[in-house]
Amino acid sequence: MDEKIAVAIDGPAAAGKSSIAKALAEKFGYIYVDTGALYRAVAFFASESGIDTQDEKKVAECLKGLKISLEYKNGNQRVIVNGKDVSEIIRLPKMSMAASDVSKIKEVRAFLLDLQRDLAKNNNVIMDGRDIATVILPDAKYKFFLTASPEIRAKRRFLEFKEKGIEKDYDSLLKETKKRDYNDSNREIAPLKPHKDAIIVDSSDMTFDEVVRYMARRMEDQ
Ligand code: DC
Repeated sequence: MDEKIAVAIDGPAAAGKSSIAKALAEKFGYIYVDTGALYRAVAFFASESGIDTQDEKKVAECLKGLKISLEYKNGNQRVIVNGKDVSEIIRLPKMSMAASDVSKIKEVRAFLLDLQRDLAKNNNVIMDGRDIATVILPDAKYKFFLTASPEIRAKRRFLEFKEKGIEKDYDSLLKETKKRDYNDSNREIAPLKPHKDAIIVDSSDMTFDEVVRYMARRMEDQ
């Protein structure tokens, strides 16, 4: 089998990873894998089962009854939990912090590891997350760390929600963004941090197209 190409895009919440990764995946004809959706799926399943997502022991135990798979329809990732498509419900704002909670748990990270690696074994992938270059795919050919200031990220999220008709005030989004940064960067296992060889892209003062063009160029150059 020919060698597959992997592109890792790590970075904090709301840095624009998913839309940038989708655009690059389309340009290069790779599969886009949103790994945050996997942690959201675990959070959703635990919540549905009546489990507090901060209860590490109970969350770890519930994994026995959980089967997650990813399917691709017209290039769009669908997340399937025990046969049910949960792709929309896991995007609800309350699932963001719950996903951050469960992502601290070592059993959860171990549970999701093979699923992510298998996808990269069988496909050319652009995978976004927090630990893709540092843990999941350390041999990824291209490693990016995409970031922006917390204020810019909260503002982008505010506009995104507004467009979807979801009312969220800017100050609480900023607070949540900072809290998630803290959680994701300070946990013991696989904390959010740039790989030593990652290309750091700070998109605070860049447009969407500029970021896509810059990253595509870096991939073509290497
Ligand atoms: O990218 P996102 O906002 O959908 O991710 C939700 C949470 O999942 C995030 O706060 C931390 C966790 N996560 C992680 O720990 N590792 C990843 N590779 C992706 C997400």
